[in-house]
Amino acid sequence: MAPKTRIAANLFIATEQARTEPIAGRIIEVPENEEQSELYRNPHSGFVAYVPVGSIKRGADLVTTGGMRIVGNKIVQGKTTPCGTCHGPDLMGVADVPAIAGRSPSYIVRQLWDIRQGARKGASAQLMKLVVANLTEEDMTNIAAYVASRATGAAQPASQIPTIAERFTTTTVSRSR
Ligand code: HEC
Repeated sequence: MAPKTRIAANLFIATEQARTEPIAGRIIEVPENEEQSELYRNPHSGFVAYVPVGSIKRGADLVTTGGMRIVGNKIVQGKTTPCGTCHGPDLMGVADVPAIAGRSPSYIVRQLWDIRQGARKGASAQLMKLVVANLTEEDMTNIAAYVASRATGAAQPASQIPTIAERFTTTTVSRSR
């Protein structure tokens, strides 16, 4: 469930805290404090993102492995490329590849969508073309839910980043029949 919203000056505003409706596959992002965001446009006042149940976990799989599977002893390529390859293991950016961790999930979906449609097509955006080519709208929602949930700030100590082997063991075990 997510707050029922109305649109006011490009923001989704919760109609009342008490009134909710099914989230139905959407991401709903509302200001933590309406007055600060809507009236004063205070950049330090935060937002709360409601995301579909299970989307963060499904997004984690696509972001960290690209959706790759090990079937028997064969590697089956996933539908995308692990984002950390270019955006850094903590998704905080590397050289001129931008940081994406903790960004607004609506913004992330918008960029993925625009790059796939060709509306965002700068020279560097070409590197993103293959990444988004096979993603469905639901995949983009899941990816955005996970990426937005990641901490920004200090890089994660290397010891806390799961190794490739750890990631695949978890994935394979949870999907085995
Ligand atoms: C091959 C390298 C590469 C991979 C892999 C990659 N990206 Fe990117 N990404 C880039 C580059 C380079 C840019 C900057 C594009 C530009 O300047 O227009 C970018 C931009 C973005 C942006 C826009 C950021 C902004 O500030 O507007 C988002 C969102 C994004 N990537 C998400 C992802 C996600 C999610 C994944 C994994 C599913 C991913 N990227 C995988 C290279 C990559």
